[in-house]
Amino acid sequence: MNKNVRKAIIAGNWKMNMTPSEAKKLIAELIPAVEGKNGCEIVLCVPFVDIPAAVEAVQGTSLKIGAQNVHFEKSGAFTGEISAAMLKECGVEYVVIGHSERRQYFGETDETVNLRMKAALAAGLKPIVCVGELLSQRDRGITNETVSAQTKIAFLDVSAEDAVKVTVAYEPVWAIGTGRTATAEQAEEVCAVIRSVLAEKYGNDVAEAVTVQYGGSMKPSNAAELLAKYDVDGGLIGGASLKAADFAAIVDAAQ
Ligand code: PGA
Repeated sequence: MNKNVRKAIIAGNWKMNMTPSEAKKLIAELIPAVEGKNGCEIVLCVPFVDIPAAVEAVQGTSLKIGAQNVHFEKSGAFTGEISAAMLKECGVEYVVIGHSERRQYFGETDETVNLRMKAALAAGLKPIVCVGELLSQRDRGITNETVSAQTKIAFLDVSAEDAVKVTVAYEPVWAIGTGRTATAEQAEEVCAVIRSVLAEKYGNDVAEAVTVQYGGSMKPSNAAELLAKYDVDGGLIGGASLKAADFAAIVDAAQ
């Protein structure tokens, strides 16, 4: 992390877990556990239906609420979808875009990731855009190429002014929910590649200002080592964000 030039962000991705009442309970446990830990921004990316309860529960604290997806059209005949303006009006600040589970199970492509990015930014939401290689791509030695292409397409037609509002989460798909973490060196290498793609497009000042997270089996026991790396500015945390003590321990590691 380099907190002199960019914000460290620890974000929980609850995925399809927690009913509204469970969300309230978890947040009530979490608040005293992370109170006063201002060395990083803390974001909870919750299921859509938990948003009102979560926004209410974090009122008066520095915790922020995020969603896990957003549709790219403003409104219309898109049954089951949620627009950026809807999220914004509910008090959402961040939104995860292009998570590998959305790419894998719900037909998300680099192109729709780019459309969602632009829709989120236009509505004043801060995207957390996910990139990452499959195990087969790592094994073939095309990790950097894969992640570079995903990053380039995600940022197509995004201005420099908007680019600094985006967080990029490097999530190697083989490390998500598997207990298998990328080594700190592997995470650093790819996070640096992402930053170099941004530098090429926007110049160094913008690239240095963008928060790049690591995600994939981040937990209390490995967080400090990952976050010690220069280009790893935080984490996107799945499993370990569902337990207040574990998530708070990762927040501690980011102080
Ligand atoms: P995990 O999930 O921490 O459970 O591996 C991370 C993510 O998918 O964002």
